Amino acid sequence: MQLGLTMEIIYPGTFDPITNGHLDVIARASKLFGRIVVAIAKSENKKPLFSWEERIMLVKESVKGIKGVEVDGFDCLLIDYAGEKDIFNILRSLRVASDFEYELQLALMNRKLHHHCETIFLMPNQKYIFLSSSMVREIALLGGDYECFVPKSVYEYMKKRISPYAKH
Ligand code: COA
Repeated sequence: MQLGLTMEIIYPGTFDPITNGHLDVIARASKLFGRIVVAIAKSENKKPLFSWEERIMLVKESVKGIKGVEVDGFDCLLIDYAGEKDIFNILRSLRVASDFEYELQLALMNRKLHHHCETIFLMPNQKYIFLSSSMVREIALLGGDYECFVPKSVYEYMKKRISPYAKH
């Protein structure tokens, strides 16, 4: 199915770090959209474990080879960033029912802020529906095995970056 290969879309998130679930969504989107801008929010309020620069670098490494994908950072309202790019299609993923309330609020607020803004939802492969970045961070910090949850390059980076703090 090639619905919108001329269509451009922004996939925003904190990506602290990018997981295989995010990557699955990006790969699905690359079959539907001509250009996907993965936009990494600085999200200082979330006190990310990885710096903005690290998160951008890890996403860039992870999406290498996926057609039509570019990676960028933003530190402003998402809708202002969308305006800068002149792309008012937003991609988000829905994993479980509990995602819905927050995503609905985000989508409707963005549309309130700019009436052309539409949010499109994709569901990741079911093997990733219980995966989240915070779980990956917690498992890594406590010395558990998280290799199957993140792209290889992210795992290699995290092993070096995080092992000193892990409880072993
Ligand atoms: N696979 C794995 N995990 C996924 C996932 C998937 N397919 N989809 C979502 N998640 C998880 C993330 O891992 C993250 O987990 P965590 O909170 O446990 O770490 C969680 O869902 C949240 O997703 P994330 O992609 O990090 O989004 P976010 O909620 O941090 O991002 C922004 C929200 C950045 C889009 C939003 O805050 C924003 O637009 N900020 C800019 C400021 C702004 O405009 N604010 C007003 C908005 S109306």
